[in-house]
Amino acid sequence: MNSLETLDLSNNKLSGEIPEHLAKSCIVLRLLVLSHNNLEGQIFSAANFNLLSLLRLQLDGNHLIGKIPECLSNSSDLVGLYLSDNHLSGRIPSWLGNMLELVDLIMPNNHLQGPIPLEFCQLQNLQVLNLAENNISGDLPSRFSPPQIQQVHLSKNKLEGQLKDAFFNSSSLVTLDLGYNRFSGEIPNWIGWLSNLTYLILTHNNLECEVLHLLCHLERLRLIDLSHNNLSGQIPHCLDMTALHDNYDVAFNTTSSTAGGPSGSPMGKEETVEFTTKNISYSYQGRVLTYMSGVDLSCNKLIGEIPHQIGNLTRIHSLNLSYNNLTGSIPSTFSNLEQIESLDLSHNNLNGKIPPQIIELYYITFFSVAYNNLSGKTLARIAQFSTFEEISYRGNDLLCGLPLPKSCDANGSLALAPKASTDIEEDNNFMDMDIFYINFTASYIVAVLTIAIILYVNPYWRRTWFYLVETWMTSCYYFIIDHLPKGFRH
Ligand SMILES: *[C@@H]1O[C@H](CO)[C@@H](O)[C@H](O)[C@H]1NC(C)=O
Ligand SMILES: *[C@@H]1O[C@H](CO)[C@@H](O)[C@H](O)[C@H]1NC(C)=O
Ligand SMILES: *[C@@H]1O[C@H](CO)[C@@H](O)[C@H](O)[C@H]1NC(C)=O
Ligand SMILES: *[C@@H]1O[C@H](CO)[C@@H](O)[C@H](O)[C@H]1NC(C)=O
Ligand SMILES: *[C@@H]1O[C@H](CO)[C@@H](O)[C@H](O)[C@H]1NC(C)=O
Ligand SMILES: *[C@@H]1O[C@H](CO)[C@@H](O)[C@H](O)[C@H]1NC(C)=O
Ligand SMILES: *[C@@H]1O[C@H](CO)[C@@H](O)[C@H](O)[C@H]1NC(C)=O
Ligand SMILES: *[C@@H]1O[C@H](CO)[C@@H](O)[C@H](O)[C@H]1NC(C)=O
Ligand SMILES: *[C@@H]1O[C@H](CO)[C@@H](O)[C@H](O)[C@H]1NC(C)=O
Repeated sequence: MNSLETLDLSNNKLSGEIPEHLAKSCIVLRLLVLSHNNLEGQIFSAANFNLLSLLRLQLDGNHLIGKIPECLSNSSDLVGLYLSDNHLSGRIPSWLGNMLELVDLIMPNNHLQGPIPLEFCQLQNLQVLNLAENNISGDLPSRFSPPQIQQVHLSKNKLEGQLKDAFFNSSSLVTLDLGYNRFSGEIPNWIGWLSNLTYLILTHNNLECEVLHLLCHLERLRLIDLSHNNLSGQIPHCLDMTALHDNYDVAFNTTSSTAGGPSGSPMGKEETVEFTTKNISYSYQGRVLTYMSGVDLSCNKLIGEIPHQIGNLTRIHSLNLSYNNLTGSIPSTFSNLEQIESLDLSHNNLNGKIPPQIIELYYITFFSVAYNNLSGKTLARIAQFSTFEEISYRGNDLLCGLPLPKSCDANGSLALAPKASTDIEEDNNFMDMDIFYINFTASYIVAVLTIAIILYVNPYWRRTWFYLVETWMTSCYYFIIDHLPKGFRH
């Protein structure tokens, strides 16, 4: 079919190799889409490659092996290369850096090795670079900063070195995902210039930083994961991301993550961002990603107090400050975090009382202040807070009240003698009576219904039952007659 321009056989169960004739004869083929099949073998063999007009090659979700074929370098108009979820190996070819039209380079979840070639600095049109979950090592190429790039996913590799001058000029960046690598040194200043940055994932690296205030002026930032690093210093007061304020325009907010690129199906382009909330790591994609918001600074060396301005983040869904060395008390402004679902302040050095206003958080499904130095009463066990057990509060020696085994005295501090726990017991009795009445009514209805159903279904028992009732009525009648005073009898 040597006039064929578009071939899309994606989402089938095709197996075997990509036929050689296809690459040889379909010389005007522009779009080749074979995603999500069971194709095996190498991508193309070098000998007969004539797909010189190729604009987009989508082979994601197959079982392809071998290297990225060099013959592809002849398709110099290539705009999108989608090879994710295969078993490709070898180094990232440096000729990819000469494909100057490239907009989307998406090859996560393969076995690619070696460094990112220096030639990538020539890719001025690149908008999406996704090489996550490979085996890529070395430093980022110095001064690698495609001016139009919007998404960078390099997580789960073995990249190292400092982040000094990569992406320094990529002001259109929306997603920067460098988690699970070995980056070290300071979080660079240029992060503060990326005015469109929305998702910042630097978890599981070795980054240091005295001051996080770089992040303060990024108006669109919605998801920050800096957990498992070597961050020190205080949480800056100005860290109240505008995107999470009440009055921030959502419509404007949700459009910002759709990358450009060639028209047509977005298959293989769906952006994925991993984030841990409610003690589980989730992969967020598509629309759900545009609604997710959170800050994870856990497992660092942050000190000082939690700034009360954090309470301005009324749209935040998840906040994790656990495993730091934070001191001071929990700000009562946390009660403004109306949409929060997961709040983890465990393993710090917080003291004082838990502000009782926090029980106004109606969406919360994970809450932990365990292993701090908090004192006073636990939160009242009403609404969502009745679902949190001892594990949410444990490890605070001076905390008392249910669900902890220690009870409080009349002032709401830890009771030394067990006798002073009357008001809690009253509460319990009250609850018990309520439940008892409900339970009693329910049981009564069930019993009556059961008898009625049995009688309805079984005619023999029904007859026996009515016979019994008749007998009782007769005996009652005579009993009453016998015992009534003489005057009433007639
Ligand atoms: C990464 O490379 C190392 C050797 O360099 C190899 O042992 C390991 O299996 C590779 N991992 C993947 C996921 O390819
Ligand atoms: C930021 O994103 C908006 C659209 O979401 C776009 O119009 C603007 O040009 C971007 N800013 C930069 C510096 O790229
Ligand atoms: C963390 O930073 C401190 C200095 O602030 C340094 O002494 C220490 O070695 C770093 N830890 C790691 C694991 O890099
Ligand atoms: C969090 O999950 C781990 C297992 O993944 C579990 O051991 C731990 O108890 C959980 N923590 C809480 C506070 O539920
Ligand atoms: C908070 O972070 C710690 C360490 O990264 C993690 O173990 C925990 O599950 C996170 N908490 C929540 C609620 O996700
Ligand atoms: C942030 O919260 C503080 C009080 O905690 C308040 O004074 C301030 O006005 C708030 N800022 C915004 C922009 O809402
Ligand atoms: C936490 O900070 C206190 C002082 O504020 C210090 O004495 C303590 O050593 C720190 N702990 C850790 C684990 O860094
Ligand atoms: C815990 O808090 C109490 C006061 O509530 C204070 O006396 C004590 O020193 C604190 N302990 C630590 C280890 O910070
Ligand atoms: C109702 O009573 C039964 C029997 O005592 C008991 O097992 C059950 O837990 C009670 N139900 C409630 C909601 O308390």
